[in-house]
Amino acid sequence: LYEKRWMVLTGVALAVMFLAIVGSVFGAGIQVPGVYGQVNPARLPNTPPFDQPGVRQLGPGRYEATVIAHIWAYSPNEIRVPAGATVTFNLTSRDVIHGFRIEGTNVNTMVIPGQIARVTHTFKKPGTYLFLCHEYCGVGHQNMFGRVIVE
Ligand code: CUA
Repeated sequence: LYEKRWMVLTGVALAVMFLAIVGSVFGAGIQVPGVYGQVNPARLPNTPPFDQPGVRQLGPGRYEATVIAHIWAYSPNEIRVPAGATVTFNLTSRDVIHGFRIEGTNVNTMVIPGQIARVTHTFKKPGTYLFLCHEYCGVGHQNMFGRVIVE
């Protein structure tokens, strides 16, 4: 009788470990490219860098742009950097799933509430680069855009 109990316990322990492995694989599987961290959408005003959206210079030619997506706009919706700037975008959503694609570049990521997306691009040519939401997010979806102005 005792041996049987131990076999059952061992079996349960193995099953738990197996489920933990499957769980972690699945958890990693639903991550999208560009996602590098977690953030509580309800606490964005108290969570750096999202407490201060906008552009910050990190060093010579290096910038960081923190942008919050929400229905149905980006805050901020205009980012100004000099030509040649390498800009790292920190993005998250305050509400539903949005997208972030900058036309004329390879920048294209989902913006998911609770997760931080990070993408980097060097803007060599001056001009206006439209960015827009490419995930349907409700009736105001088509109004969701902004621009990077490279001077
Ligand atoms: Cu936000 Cu579509």
